[in-house]
Amino acid sequence: MKIIAYGVRDDELPYFKEWEQENPEVEVTIEKRLLDDSTVSEAEGCNGVVAYQQKPYTKSVLDKLGQFGIKALSLRNVGVDNVDSNAVKANEIKVTNVPAYSPQAIAEFTVTELMRLLRRTKKFDQKQAAGDLTWAPDQADELNKMTVGVFATGRIGRAAINIYRGFGAKVIAYDIYHNPELEKEGIYVDTPDELYAQSDVLSIHAPAVKENEHMLNDDAFAKMKDGVWILNPARGTLIDTDALIRALDSGKVAGAALDVYEDEVGIFNKDFGSFDKIPDERLKNLMQRENVLVTPHIAFYTKTAVQNMVKFSMSANKDLIEKGTSDKLVEFK
Ligand code: COI
Repeated sequence: MKIIAYGVRDDELPYFKEWEQENPEVEVTIEKRLLDDSTVSEAEGCNGVVAYQQKPYTKSVLDKLGQFGIKALSLRNVGVDNVDSNAVKANEIKVTNVPAYSPQAIAEFTVTELMRLLRRTKKFDQKQAAGDLTWAPDQADELNKMTVGVFATGRIGRAAINIYRGFGAKVIAYDIYHNPELEKEGIYVDTPDELYAQSDVLSIHAPAVKENEHMLNDDAFAKMKDGVWILNPARGTLIDTDALIRALDSGKVAGAALDVYEDEVGIFNKDFGSFDKIPDERLKNLMQRENVLVTPHIAFYTKTAVQNMVKFSMSANKDLIEKGTSDKLVEFK
């Protein structure tokens, strides 16, 4: 059995080696480049493909995999928004993802960033770097006095809820699907508008499906409490960035922690050498604000998560090849 893994980063290599040692019967080809028209021919002769990239898995690439007789594509991440679902179905390719490589990794990071916002650590760090060790005027806010609105209660949202509760916050949530346990606890509000109206903090954990595109826009911000805090560790397209900038300018939004950005592809996880050389003025506008924390999509980036992403995706690909199915199969509508 032959599996080719695309887009492999150096920091993933030890985990690929471990998996290969545990599965000596599988021949693994490591390809550092991403899966696209220029690299897809490397997959010819393989039984399965494992990949991670934010760049789209296009129809032409998926058609080529189909022509090579490859029916198994396993993503090393959770989001499948960049996969052409029609082409997957037309080529009868089965796709797996890794839905739970570490929901805690993302939840812990989200709450870390919220605490940094509430305690104004960015401002204090900047002041201290300039030799200023004074306190005023940045009195902080306490999470235990706040209502946190969690948008979407999948694995990550639920992990975040547990941590918010540990801090003593009141938690409410919105989701079209209700988790039975949370339902019993009466955590759900009926509409996004109710969540916006009641939350001091909005913690967004929704997938990037079409209906959610720019769900946080001018209209949504207008319905929120004055001085709301926004956390987005999910997908950049969920927020209309221009609307967020307007809401920050007006003070409607007190601050934001953004681990994702709608134009992040080609920018995040790259070293530009200096702040000035980052090729996105709007992103730099956000990065320069003392009440905005921008991080380059690192909420997931823990040892546990990266190891699980490699191992779970490789095993899922092997299952697809051997058994034609996997417990991580993605159902495209
Ligand atoms: C995902 O798993 O979909 C993520 O957002 C993390 C990715 C950057 C590896």
